[in-house]
Parts: sequence; C-alpha cells; structure tokens
Amino acid sequence: MWIYSTHHTSIYYKIMEQIRVRNYTTADYADICRLDAYLFEGMGGHVLFRHIEELFPGLFFVAEDARTHEIVGYILGGIHLDDPNTGKLIRIGVKSEFQRIEVGTELATILFAEMRKHGVKKVHLTVSETNAAALSFYRKNGFEIQKRVEKYFYPDIPRLVLEKNL
Ligand SMILES: CC(C)(COP(=O)(O)OP(=O)(O)OC[C@H]1O[C@@H](n2cnc3c(N)ncnc32)[C@H](O)[C@@H]1OP(=O)(O)O)[C@@H](O)C(=O)NCCC(=O)NCCS
Repeated sequence: MWIYSTHHTSIYYKIMEQIRVRNYTTADYADICRLDAYLFEGMGGHVLFRHIEELFPGLFFVAEDARTHEIVGYILGGIHLDDPNTGKLIRIGVKSEFQRIEVGTELATILFAEMRKHGVKKVHLTVSETNAAALSFYRKNGFEIQKRVEKYFYPDIPRLVLEKNL
C-alpha cells in the first residue's frame, strides 16, 4: 500500500520502505514507554503496556525502522470477553517526525486484520474531542462517532466513542 501511494515524494517512499510493522516484544517496553510518555504527556502508558502484553500479546504491534531498529510507532488492542465480535483500539502513537506518512494507518490495518482472524466484526475506541489530528485520522480510517460520554475520565473529562465495522 505504501509504495503505490501517488501523492508523496520520493523521500516518502524511501522512508516507508524502511519501516516495518511487527509484533511487540517485552524488549520494546522501555522504548515504547519513552515514546508514549512524550505523545501522551505521561498518561499511564507504562502501566497499560504491561497489562496488554499479558492479556492481548497478539494485538500489540510496533513499527520500527528496519535499519536502526528505532521504534517509531505502536498500537494495541483488545477483545471484549463478553462480546467477542467487538474489539477495542486501546492506544496508538506515532513519533512526531514519522507522522502523516501512513505509519498509523499501516499499524491500524495490521491490528484490524489480526482482530478479524479472531472473529472481531467491529472495533470501537475513545478519543478526546479536542484531539483534532486523531479524530481526522480515525475518520479517514473509517470510524464514525457513535456517542459522547460525559465524565468518562477522572476528573469529569468527556470522551467521544467511535466505531468502525471490520
Ligand atoms: C493519530 C496518529 C496516531 C496518526 O498517525 P499517523 O501515522 O500520522 O497517521 P497516518 O499518516 O496514517 O494518517 C494521516 C491522516 O491522519 C490525520 N492526521 C494525522 N496527523 C494530523 C495532524 N497533525 N493534523 C490533522 N490531521 C492529522 C489526517 O487525516 C491525515 O491524513 P492527511 O495526511 O491526508 O491529511 C498520530 O497523529 C499520533 O501519534 N498522535 C499522538 C497520539 C494520539 O493522539 N493518539 C491517538 C489517541 S486517541
């Protein structure tokens, strides 16, 4: 998908050719925590990642520079125990210098393909209504706003719930 895109420059092709998505391993933990602490201003990623690597190891992916092995993005998901048709995109982040060249889209595509193998038919996620970049990204990737939930995060912070059929 990346190399056939037409609206980017040759520099884009060169960068994307060296990015690969693979499963997360425990050895990635510190690198992802550092990246996440920057992107999410310290909001709990270091705890979240340890839980997800135990609960949903098959739904945890990283994008890395194949030459330097630098982690430039990550995505993690889960599946509802009481509704195995529904998956959740729990968190996604892409290093600032690598944003807008479809690293996020590739991570999401791979996560959703893996979820489909487990019988997942729809995915939901929550996002802040002030996160314009993420909202635009999710819409571009087929998500629609389902509802707004008041007081979702402590203390009284609302979130949008978005959904997409796989
Ligand atoms: C959201 C995020 C993962 C997108 O990753 P990405 O690799 O840049 O996304 P892609 O390149 O695959 O998709 C690009 C599309 O996303 C949207 N987008 C990404 N960055 C954007 C920005 N700064 N402003 C507006 N739209 C943006 C646009 O729709 C863009 O399409 P366009 O370039 O044709 O306009 C990335 O911006 C990020 O890590 N943000 C910080 C962490 C975060 O907010 N995560 C989501 C929390 S719910």
